[in-house]
Amino acid sequence: MRIPFIAGNWKMFKTGREIVTFAEEFKALYQDTDVKTAICAPYVYLGLLKNLFSGTDIKVGAQNAFYEEEGAFTGEVSVKMLEDLGVDYCIIGHSERRQYFGETDESINKKLKRLFRGTVTPILCVGENLRQREKEEQYLVVRDQLMGALSGISPEDAASLIIAYEPVWAIGTGKTATPEQAEDMCEFIRNAVEALYGEAVADQVVIQYGGSVKPANASEIMNMSNIDGALVGGASLNAKDFMDIIDF
Ligand code: PGA
Repeated sequence: MRIPFIAGNWKMFKTGREIVTFAEEFKALYQDTDVKTAICAPYVYLGLLKNLFSGTDIKVGAQNAFYEEEGAFTGEVSVKMLEDLGVDYCIIGHSERRQYFGETDESINKKLKRLFRGTVTPILCVGENLRQREKEEQYLVVRDQLMGALSGISPEDAASLIIAYEPVWAIGTGKTATPEQAEDMCEFIRNAVEALYGEAVADQVVIQYGGSVKPANASEIMNMSNIDGALVGGASLNAKDFMDIIDF
């Protein structure tokens, strides 16, 4: 049985004071639920969030990490540092990092390998852009991203992976994939995982959809059989909206 998992991706939004306000509102709204919940925030606020959410079931995630242990890598943050803070999850390969920061399948693969050696669970993002969808290349693109990211990853590690399917054309655009489009690709991803690792692993892998998930569309997306969760950008910045999505 896969447990639904809804994570917020705050991207480069909110400062300390806004985070404290959010946490107060969110903890007041938060009810015991069967849905796993996390917020992925900028590095500088991960320690603050861990403190604010201590004693609750709300987990904390980073939005990136570097694969080297330590060294002269100005501006980077290691997985060991995330572990030191008790961070639970780490987004890897978000399309914005691929687009603006030169993230490649090769660096994503190294990051996943490093994360799997430790205690932080990776959320691997894949997804095609608009041009690729218009050319009907979405399956090829996502398959290549998966193969590149998962190269040399063991079945045991793959089973604990979270994969977020985020079509780039639906991110921050208000243009959600239809539940059928989202399900179709999440099923494709599960089949690709099965081809690589077998049925037992494919059954365990949690697959999220991301791209303009809102309270209004969360339940129809979450009702799809291959969609186990959501990665929520804009709507996770508001405590009430994010709670309504968790309550789908
Ligand atoms: P969005 O972002 O919900 O604002 O579309 C999703 C994401 O980029 O993870």
